[in-house]
Amino acid sequence: MSEGAAERAEELRELIAYHNRRYFDLDDPEISDAEYDELVRELARLESEHPELVTAESPTQQVGGAPVGLFAEVRHRTPMMSLDKTTNYEELLAWGKRMERYISGEVVFTCELKVDGLAMSLLYEGGRLIRAATRGNGEIGEDVTANVATIAAVPDRLGAGFPDVLEVRGEIYMTVGAFDDLNARQVRSGGRTFINPRNAAAGSLRQKDPTVTATRELSFSAYQLGEVVGGPVFRYHHETLDWLRQLDFPVSAHVRMVRSLEEVDRYCTDWLGRRHSIDFEIDGVVIKVDDLAQRRELGATSKAPRWAIAYKFPPEERTTLLKDIMVSIGRTGKATPFAVLEPVVVGGARVSLATLHNEDQVRAKDVRPGDTVVVRRAGDVIPEVRGPVLPLRPEGLAPWSFPPDCPVCGAPLQRLAGEADTYCINLECPGQQVQRISHFASRGAMDIEGLGERTVSLFCKEGLLADAAGIYSLDLRRVESFEGFGAISVANLSAAINASKSRPLANLLVGLSIRHLGANGSQVLARALGNMDAIIEAPEDQIAAVEGIGPVIAASIKRFFSMPRNREVVERLRAAGVNFEGPSAPATAQTLVGKSIVVTGTLQRWSREDAEAAIKARGGKAPGSVSQKTTAVVLGSEPGGAKLAKATELGIPLLDEDAFERLLETGDLPR
Ligand code: IVH
Repeated sequence: MSEGAAERAEELRELIAYHNRRYFDLDDPEISDAEYDELVRELARLESEHPELVTAESPTQQVGGAPVGLFAEVRHRTPMMSLDKTTNYEELLAWGKRMERYISGEVVFTCELKVDGLAMSLLYEGGRLIRAATRGNGEIGEDVTANVATIAAVPDRLGAGFPDVLEVRGEIYMTVGAFDDLNARQVRSGGRTFINPRNAAAGSLRQKDPTVTATRELSFSAYQLGEVVGGPVFRYHHETLDWLRQLDFPVSAHVRMVRSLEEVDRYCTDWLGRRHSIDFEIDGVVIKVDDLAQRRELGATSKAPRWAIAYKFPPEERTTLLKDIMVSIGRTGKATPFAVLEPVVVGGARVSLATLHNEDQVRAKDVRPGDTVVVRRAGDVIPEVRGPVLPLRPEGLAPWSFPPDCPVCGAPLQRLAGEADTYCINLECPGQQVQRISHFASRGAMDIEGLGERTVSLFCKEGLLADAAGIYSLDLRRVESFEGFGAISVANLSAAINASKSRPLANLLVGLSIRHLGANGSQVLARALGNMDAIIEAPEDQIAAVEGIGPVIAASIKRFFSMPRNREVVERLRAAGVNFEGPSAPATAQTLVGKSIVVTGTLQRWSREDAEAAIKARGGKAPGSVSQKTTAVVLGSEPGGAKLAKATELGIPLLDEDAFERLLETGDLPR
């Protein structure tokens, strides 16, 4: 083998890795897709000439699976150009100014959603699909006809009135629903999950075997007419879209015609706010001049037409270094793996930690400490690690495996057959203790101000606290001697602890951390059985018969109270004077009976759980989505697009945090 080839292959891998980073990490590619493809192609050529140069990590062996060059090359009859980009109104106006050099007078624009998938050219002759080609470098793409023919949304025969020759361009994509289903299937079958719908669509198309593509649920949206022979002559782009609809092509229902760039900007801002209200991912809006004569006047630069522009939304995915995978122990002992990341700003927030859910998820994502990973943060969904950027994986990186022992107490972790979660089953585990006690003191439970996780952790470490009941016999004199605790803060803590003794029974039940029993279940249980002793003594089937409880929760409640350790804690709580009586005693004012309040986004003073529990505690409903029946929507920062859009559409009052707290108190909506 020549020295030169090995060196060049190495150089190409580095270049490709570098450009991957520009593309994924910075969303600011330095080279065109075509130039990028050329690098990959050159590497693939070198590797095929010198098979000994191929490594498993080579980008030619990655995403999509199919080796480059698997499909025949297709020269596009007219090049598939890319689009100039803008990210704001000023740049949009600058585009308008540039156009004034070529055309004058009124301009009507069509605004279309920029579906995040793969550009596809479909060629029909005599009304039949004869060729489907990817964009490739714009001049030359790949022939993927056999695979595209399996996609139901792509017609293989055209409806009445078809021309002799027709080229249609559009986007092949995967809906978020289909993507989630596919990934769930991958996890179940021990396969690897896909990073995003675009990747999944690309991987599904680049299959050697079309029967594999056929199992993937792909969609198509036509957005542009290519070459036409023997068809009608059109004056406007929107007419071509109507015609494509008649010929049975799926065309987006969200296309709008507008008469000014100001309206264009409104369309873009509107869709930016509700990009998650639809079941497919969009990465922006494409704006096009509608008048085809004006388009001809405008022409194109060497890269892109002057008559169209892409308004790009801020990315919701970024890559960053996965520094470590750690395991946290929750109050039920559940061991949850999470990613420790080199901090990265994505979706408008700085992300340094992200959950990895469970062992199977880590395996299916195949993320390893040392990997560069794709992190996603979209709307009000918690940040997520989607998967590794394989071409950037350092050599010799070992797969991560679940630690055998609890990182806090060292007891062996257990995963039961048929369950996804792993548990620390040592009831004395300090990790669990801290979580259980701080949960007991949290807002949705006994609401003891000043007893957060940090303080609880300190008290446990100092031997002052070992379980929730210990809160009521806390050695406050010792606390006062700790750094940061003055006489006033200790007096406040003492008052908060005393006040918590009269919380409703349901709050106490929530605070006990009985597996499966949440705020809702606690509420109905307290109301149905009336006091703690009745709950402890009730037979399992009586508990299960309570509306809203069911057998799983009932069994869990019985199991909880059958453990001597738990009974002992309960007795000490009783001795401390904690309220054991149901809602007939000191009930929360039922200010929200008959009202339905939806919470979305992040609030400053309330966690989502607590806010919803507070609504329910006052007799209200707190559903997860907005409907006709919704009384009001409480809006935090980064609200869910779908909820906000629906609320606006239905004219439902939007409340900020202050208004929400007034509503809890009085049941009144602001005027
Ligand atoms: S028009 C010359 N319209 O965005 C006009 N493109 O660079 C070419 N895309 O990958 C494209 N939705 O596949 C157009 N409604 C739409 C689109 C759209 C998505 C993609 C296209 C290409 C990129 C544009």
